[in-house]
Parts: sequence; structure tokens; C-alpha cells
Amino acid sequence: MLRPHPSVPVLFLSDLSPQALLLRQAPLAATSVRPLASPLRIGGLTLPNSVVLAPMAGVTDLPLREMSVRLGAGMAVAEMLTSDASLVDSRKSMQRRRHSTNEGIRSIQIVGSEPQQLAEAARRNVDEGADIIDINMGCPAKKVCRKAAGSALLADERQVGAILDAVVAAVNVPVTLKIRTGVSRDRRNGVAIANIAERAGIQMLAVHGRTRADRFLGAAEYDTIAAIVDAVGIPVLANGDITDVEKAHHVMQATGAAGVMIGRAAQGNPWLPGHIAQSGVGSEAIKPNLAERFALMRGHVAALHDFYGEFLGTRIARKHTGWFFDTLHREMPHTACPWKSRFNALGDHEAQQALLREAELKLLTLKPCDRSGGKAA
Ligand SMILES: Cc1cc2nc3c(=O)[nH]c(=O)nc-3n(C[C@H](O)[C@H](O)[C@H](O)COP(=O)(O)O)c2cc1C
Repeated sequence: MLRPHPSVPVLFLSDLSPQALLLRQAPLAATSVRPLASPLRIGGLTLPNSVVLAPMAGVTDLPLREMSVRLGAGMAVAEMLTSDASLVDSRKSMQRRRHSTNEGIRSIQIVGSEPQQLAEAARRNVDEGADIIDINMGCPAKKVCRKAAGSALLADERQVGAILDAVVAAVNVPVTLKIRTGVSRDRRNGVAIANIAERAGIQMLAVHGRTRADRFLGAAEYDTIAAIVDAVGIPVLANGDITDVEKAHHVMQATGAAGVMIGRAAQGNPWLPGHIAQSGVGSEAIKPNLAERFALMRGHVAALHDFYGEFLGTRIARKHTGWFFDTLHREMPHTACPWKSRFNALGDHEAQQALLREAELKLLTLKPCDRSGGKAA
């Protein structure tokens, strides 16, 4: 049986409650792509499968990482942490630095522009329990790029080399790198960056199929990721716009990557990376049904309150529950019941749990044709 980490019990989605399955995937045609259920080696570590939850600031906090790994993600990368030592004890950094043995292999992402500062940050995080140090050269956020960090570094290949050399030399755990395909569509230098990374001793690359200039506009492009896979011997994760099993398999086929990284599609759907990872196991992968998803959401909201306390927990739960209701609304368009706005108006944990129970009851008692928005069940 695949396990994300010796200490983390995997909850197979198919174990949840087979009697009430909402959706089933058809068996996938056999292909020559690397199965996503295969373990993935990163230096001396082995992930139980090749589907990773992407780092997302403000999203992949400890409660979400624990949940997605428990639901079968191969690994969940933590939110980026500034390398600026003067901010280490800020409330935000303190919260982002909290880890647990329930999150499997701990990949901690650092961001910055100065090689020695990043090396120091890497050491600090390894001392605090990081199993992997990931370096962010993919974030286009103005706040990050103003300091020539994140994806802004892609324009300065010498500085990229200096940072990677310094960080790899500083720690004795695998160092990985997250990049975009290049600076802009006129300067897709992802292959050059990947070569620099491999020479520096980086053990895995995650590549978002957009350039820095693209930000999040347009569709992700996979040809440059395929060229990077061809150019290096280290594992490459393909990232960008992967929303379901079919898209994950398409991207694996198009790129020859070692695995995939899932970001926004997992917001409100923490089971998705595990679902995609299981898609090659046996004949079918099973999504959690409505009751199971509500149970997961209630558990997630409780975990957010435990982690952040009542004030912040109430607010952060609104964000995740909003994504959850958005997904349900996409799947059942006629249920435009104001669940999301009602949830957002609530001021405490108890009321939030009560509303989730009310919404579940209401949606579960809809007839099948109602659930599919009037279309045949
Ligand atoms: C809200 C949000 C926060 C993000 N924060 C980070 C981050 O901290 N570090 C990072 O490398 N990328 C970050 N990203 C980029 C994602 O990791 C990912 O590369 C991007 O969303 C594309 O993948 P997707 O199409 O599957 O979402 C963030 C993206 C979003 C939407």
C-alpha cells in the first residue's frame, strides 16, 4: 500500500464510503507515460507518488497540507517564507513555520535575492525540521519581484547560479527549485535556468508553464516544460492549469515529466491531488461524494480554527469554504442558494459548522435531476 510518510496514515478516497459514490472516472487507456502513482525520488527521499500540492501563499498552510497528504497527495509544499531574518518572528512567518509529522515529507519554500541570506534561511529551516528546501523563482507578485526575488531572478542567470550554489552548499537535505518557463514570451530561458540548476546540484524542478510576464494570463504552455525535461536528468514536475485526471495525463504525455504539481484546482478540493495520484491505480479513481466532501470540509474548518484560533480561523475558513461552494456550484449550477454569502456573514466556528450541516442536508435531499442542474442524472 502506498503511504505518504511512515507516520501518516493514507486515507484512500475509495475507502471513504463506497455505497454513495457521486462520480466515477472511466478506466484510462494504457499509455507509456510514467504512472502518477509511481513513487518519486528526490535526492535520498522518496515520495509515495508523483502528484504534489503546489506551494500557495495564504492557502497551503499546515491544516491544508496535512489534509491533502492524508488524502493521498505525494507531498504538499509549504507557503513561501521570506529569507529576510528580520522577519522570522513576524506573526505571518511564525505561522508559516509551523510544521507537523502529519504532513509527510516537509518541503519548505524560501524566497529572496541574496545568496548568503537564502543559504542562512535554508539552514534555519533545516534546523527546524525541513526535509527539503525549495527555492521560489516562480512568483510574479510585485511585493516579491520588487526585491528582485521570485520570478524576477529568471532575468539574471548569474545570480540564479550564485543563489543555487550557496543554498546547495549550505544544507545536507535535497534542494529543489520552482520556476516559470522564462522571463517573457520573447525570452523563454527555462532550459538555460534548468541547466544551471542541475549543475548546481538541484534535485528536482517544478515548472509552471507560463513566463514571468504572463503572470496568470492565458493558458499554460507545455512545450517549454517538455524541452526542460529533455535537457536535464533530474525529475521535473509539470505545473499549470491541471484541473483533473484527464488534464494531468495529457500534461504527462505532452511533457514526459516525472510528475505533476496541482495548485488552484485543489483550492476547496484538498482531495484532488490524491484523486489524481490514484487515477492510475486499479481500474478507476473515485472522487469523494457529496456527503464525504462535506465531512472533509467540516474537518478542514475545525482544523483551521484549531490552528489559527477563533478570530483568524473564522476568516480563513470563509476563504476555503467559498472555494468549496464555488466547486459545488459549478457541478450543480442551479444550487445558487446563497450558501457562500451566508457563510461569510457568520462570526464563529459553531455557526459555521451548523451552516455546513444545513447545506449538506439540503443538497443531499435534492433529487438527482436537481443536483445536475436539471440535466438527466
Ligand atoms: C494564491 C496563490 C498563491 C501562490 N503562492 C505561491 C508561493 O508561495 N510560491 C510559489 O512558488 N508559487 C506560488 N503560487 C503559484 C502556484 O504554486 C502555481 O505555480 C500556479 O498557481 C500555477 O499552477 P495552477 O494552475 O495549478 O494553479 C501561488 C499561486 C496562487 C494562486
